[in-house]
Amino acid sequence: MGKTIIQLRNADLTLGSAAACVHVLKEIDLDIAAGQSVGIVGPSGSGKSTLLMVLAGLERLDRGEIHVNGHALHGLSEDALADFRGRNIGIVFQSFHLIANMTALENVAVPLELANIRDPFAIARAELEAVGLGERLHHYPGQLSGGEQQRVAIARALAPSPAVLIADEPTGNLDGATGRQIADLLFSKQKERQMTLVLVTHDPALAARCERQIRVRSGRIEPDKPSLSPDIHEAARA
Ligand SMILES: Nc1ncnc2c1ncn2[C@@H]1O[C@H](COP(=O)(O)OP(=O)(O)OP(=O)(O)O)[C@@H](O)[C@H]1O
Ligand SMILES: [Mg+2]
Repeated sequence: MGKTIIQLRNADLTLGSAAACVHVLKEIDLDIAAGQSVGIVGPSGSGKSTLLMVLAGLERLDRGEIHVNGHALHGLSEDALADFRGRNIGIVFQSFHLIANMTALENVAVPLELANIRDPFAIARAELEAVGLGERLHHYPGQLSGGEQQRVAIARALAPSPAVLIADEPTGNLDGATGRQIADLLFSKQKERQMTLVLVTHDPALAARCERQIRVRSGRIEPDKPSLSPDIHEAARA
């Protein structure tokens, strides 16, 4: 295993209050290698999305430690966490989360502009071209298909060149063929940019394409099972 880019130690989190209080993450220890693709699977309500939010610096632990790309997130202020996210993490959601009254180009460029990155529109255009949307730059989300909207979201996530790309059921709202195209895009970008890709999925075929699978059950991580070799994945997809 190469350099560790994500490390959790004794990570514990309870969400909600009073009657709605849930112990979501229970003493989780986890190491993820830089450049690896990891599929997180497990039953509904087991804590997968919460775990992703913790990795992204969007949710804080109650106890324990989390290091991502050399940053100790448990010790950062809110401002420092926001800065960390902007530079290190790209996030893709099941429901795309695009801004409806902005064009595809603006959806990708505006966050870059807010982060004071130079030439935001040139970068946004190049990222959209790289996901095959060079002809859709001025379309609004409502004028794009689901697969196209997800490609805009991927371009937006990739634009700041994050070390870690996080995706919560990125193919969950797409038909099978479109979902496979989106998965192809995610894995090809992961390889091309040597990113770490951590995705949550209910689709066993998508999970099987990841180099490592992590199973969450009731807020705990089950021990790794040896994964199939990539050759077997190829054979299974053929
Ligand atoms: N803000 C909150 N307050 C109270 N409970 C919460 C809160 N957020 C999540 N939970 C609970 O924590 C548990 C884990 O939620 P999470 O969204 O991480 O599950 P999941 O594994 O992603 O499920 P799914 O596969 O359905 O998306 C659930 O039982 C949920 O009800
Ligand atoms: Mg979820």
